[in-house]
Amino acid sequence: MKTSVLDVINSKERVNICAPMVRYSKLPFRALLRKYNVDICYTPMILADVFKNSDLARETDYSTNAGDDPVVVQFAASNSEDLAAAAELVAPFAGGIDINCGCPQKWAIQERIGSHLMSDPETVRDMVRTVKNRVSIPCSIKIRVHPDLRETYEFVKRAESVCVDYITVHGRTRKQKSTEPVNFEGIKLVKESVSMPVFANGSIFSNADAEEMYEKTGVDGVMSARGLLQNPAFFSGYEYTPWECIEEYVHLALGYGTNHFIFHHHLMYMFEDIMSNAERKTFNTLSSIPAILDHLEEHWGLDVNKLI
Ligand SMILES: Cc1cc2nc3c(=O)[nH]c(=O)nc-3n(C[C@H](O)[C@H](O)[C@H](O)COP(=O)(O)O)c2cc1C
Repeated sequence: MKTSVLDVINSKERVNICAPMVRYSKLPFRALLRKYNVDICYTPMILADVFKNSDLARETDYSTNAGDDPVVVQFAASNSEDLAAAAELVAPFAGGIDINCGCPQKWAIQERIGSHLMSDPETVRDMVRTVKNRVSIPCSIKIRVHPDLRETYEFVKRAESVCVDYITVHGRTRKQKSTEPVNFEGIKLVKESVSMPVFANGSIFSNADAEEMYEKTGVDGVMSARGLLQNPAFFSGYEYTPWECIEEYVHLALGYGTNHFIFHHHLMYMFEDIMSNAERKTFNTLSSIPAILDHLEEHWGLDVNKLI
């Protein structure tokens, strides 16, 4: 049995959350973050229909263990039946189910999932209602703001009417790039409009950013994506990724097993502010896990034998 996300929210005044991230927020990275003051971790977005129908997807899309707690499984779905069937499969192994209403990619909108749902509040209402009837763990939504905040208000009030358990708001519209400023007013509006907990998301790269978000919006928790990729230890107060965090990631990733692409990319993110441009250029060309380990041993003093 996993810890219910609502128990975490009720037991802490402020909650630190790792965002869902396709490819990245998988078990080894979640295990790393739990050592650095992250209270709740999300899985990457999982396609509910594929998960429901494919043995292979069920084997590869979600793995967990006793230490991976609390964990929220995020699904992308276009209808309540796919979503509820997938939710039933993971409910014994999850602390919450989240519905992705924010993915802005073209293919997702064509599939009527992700941010398409921001213009289809009735389907979202149906999804929340159905999931809540079929599983007993919390059901949340992760949304973006609309260009017209009145629409956001209507959207969250409808979700509230079917008792969604909490809401995460990414303070950008579906057309905005992640480099554009976060709309604090939009997040604050959601927090003030509904009675359930609200998490804020968007450009949290440090504890100072988290503090600013709390001050400006009054939310119950803050969620970070790119900030945690670059520095998984920032919620513990580290300004840059500490070396022991990188060592720990290598240890976890090798122990759990991970593919070269994900391993390499996590390390590239973590080294982003640490390596010089020239070092980064060399590091980015390494084409296998052994080559990366050799490089880290030679240039950074990594002791692989100590880690395994
Ligand atoms: C590599 C990457 C993968 C992402 N995958 C997902 C996903 O699976 N589900 C989701 O809801 N959002 C996803 N997002 C969006 C983030 O969860 C988050 O909403 C967005 O990056 C804004 O937060 P940030 O400013 O802290 O990066 C992803 C973002 C990144 C950078």
